[in-house]
Amino acid sequence: MEVIIMKTAEKAEKLAARIIADALIEKPNLTLGLATGATMENLYHKLADMNKKGKLDFSLYKTFNLDEYVGLPAKDRNSYRYYMNYHLFDRINIDKRNTHLENGMAEDLDFECAEYERLMEEAGGVDLQLLGIGLSGHIGFNEPTSSFSSRTRVVNLTPVTMAQNGPYFDPKKGEKMPNRALTMGVGTVLDAKKLLMLVTGERKANIIAAALEGPMTSMISGSAIQLHPDCTVIVDEAAGAKLKLKEYYRSAFKNDPKWAKYQKI
Ligand code: PGA
Repeated sequence: MEVIIMKTAEKAEKLAARIIADALIEKPNLTLGLATGATMENLYHKLADMNKKGKLDFSLYKTFNLDEYVGLPAKDRNSYRYYMNYHLFDRINIDKRNTHLENGMAEDLDFECAEYERLMEEAGGVDLQLLGIGLSGHIGFNEPTSSFSSRTRVVNLTPVTMAQNGPYFDPKKGEKMPNRALTMGVGTVLDAKKLLMLVTGERKANIIAAALEGPMTSMISGSAIQLHPDCTVIVDEAAGAKLKLKEYYRSAFKNDPKWAKYQKI
């Protein structure tokens, strides 16, 4: 695992966008694993800008998102399908038939999850999986106690996650946050060839330090990334504030030739 500390959230997002763009350019039929959440919005806008400027062509890429709420249709502004269309897919030249999210409206949710795993396998697996981390320590919606070998499935959301995402739902408009979701499992995430985690903001400082430098535990599903052989974590100074090995991470980023081209961000 490599940890990169950038001065600001803007720089962290820019570095993540550059790493994704470089991976896309290197493998024109890459399968990209995507994440939702406030952290990813600017990153997606940056990728869309690159597409607009002709630097990135999305026409051949396939995407698979981590998760989706149960019971929200695509047109619901709180669904992750809506989020992805709004923040990325409607802004780039991707064929929407190549973009995948679990269908939280499926009649048979277990079948939907199995089918999602099958589609990922058929696509040759995820090459690069983007991840955030929630205040509950989740990756995707893998809440505490999720097995490290879990696969795509229906999960119940914890009070911490309900409190984190609840404010996006407006009761005055009749909106209610679902307390269940479909999510790739921890094991599914770990099957990706490469992981890229982006974490910004002071409120994530404790959980990201526990996930990266604490013991691996199913109580913090984000700690499972310690098992992955090719994992890069980008944090801003605020999110990285509680990391113990900060100076080591800084010198590794500065001195490793593979990061040389990203030094000027
Ligand atoms: P956030 O969500 O980007 O909105 O903080 C991340 C997550 O819960 O995984």
